[in-house]
Amino acid sequence: MKFIEFTEEASCSFEEIDNQHIKMIDIVNNMYNSILINDKEKVLKQFDELISDLSAHFEYEEAIMKETKFQGYISHKLEHDRVLKHTKDDALDFKNGKINFGTENMKSFKTWFYNHLDFNDKKLGKFLAEKGEN
Ligand SMILES: [Fe+2]
Ligand SMILES: [Fe+2]
Repeated sequence: MKFIEFTEEASCSFEEIDNQHIKMIDIVNNMYNSILINDKEKVLKQFDELISDLSAHFEYEEAIMKETKFQGYISHKLEHDRVLKHTKDDALDFKNGKINFGTENMKSFKTWFYNHLDFNDKKLGKFLAEKGEN
C-alpha cells in the first residue's frame, strides 16, 4: 500500500491542480520508502525534488488565484509560504544532522496535505469550476 493514495475524494475538481498533486504525492511516497530503508542520501535528494515541486506548484496556484481575483488568496498563500519554509528548514536540519527526519515527520506532511486540500485547494478548485476555468 502506498503512503498517500490519490483518491476521488482528494480531487479539487480542477484537472491541472489534481495532476500536480498526483506528482507531489509520488515524490512523497518515494521519500517515505527511502526513509523506511534508512537511505539518507536518497531522502536528501528527494527533499530537493519535493522543494522544487512545491515551489512550482504553489506558484501555479497563486498565479491562478491572482488572475481570477480569488478572495481566499492571502490566507492560501500564507499557508504555502509557511509549509515551504518548514520543508526547507527540515531538509537543512536533516542534512546537518540536527534532526532525525522520519516517518512521524512524513505523517505530519500527510496531515498538512489533506488539511490544505480541504481548507484551501478544494475551495479554489470549486471556485475555478464555477467560473468555468477548467
Ligand atoms: Fe494550495
Ligand atoms: Fe495544491
